[in-house]
Amino acid sequence: MQDWRKLYETPPESGVFFYNEKVMDHFRHPRNVGEIPEADGVALVGDPRCGDHIRLYIKVKDDRITELRYKVFGCAAAIATTSILSELAIGRRIEEALEITDDEVIKAAGGIPSGKAHCSLLGVVGLHYAISDYLRRKDEGTTGDKR
Ligand code: FES
Repeated sequence: MQDWRKLYETPPESGVFFYNEKVMDHFRHPRNVGEIPEADGVALVGDPRCGDHIRLYIKVKDDRITELRYKVFGCAAAIATTSILSELAIGRRIEEALEITDDEVIKAAGGIPSGKAHCSLLGVVGLHYAISDYLRRKDEGTTGDKR
């Protein structure tokens, strides 16, 4: 059996990436994909016209994330890490969800190739933006809007 830690040290310029079984499972069977029509917080990160981007939706009850859905347009690592992020975030209180970092997602994934580390940011930034949108709507008393 190959040591994936060694494989993950493969320089990104080699163009070769190795994903562990957990990452491949989340890539092939991403969890919590979709949209939430009456979301409490919504985010769009990236530019749909020219590249990788994510739309992320959250439902919040008593300041706890009860549902998270997303549509991510990116590589296998972006899809897998966003799926893993969704499992990490659901059930957390808002302030706990804001503490989720790309490092935590990568650790939960069991590691991803160094050249793909940035891909985990799409989901994390999307989550933080969606929370920011939720907090703004909460202040304005407009949570649950259609978008
Ligand atoms: Fe662009 Fe992974 S999302 S390379």
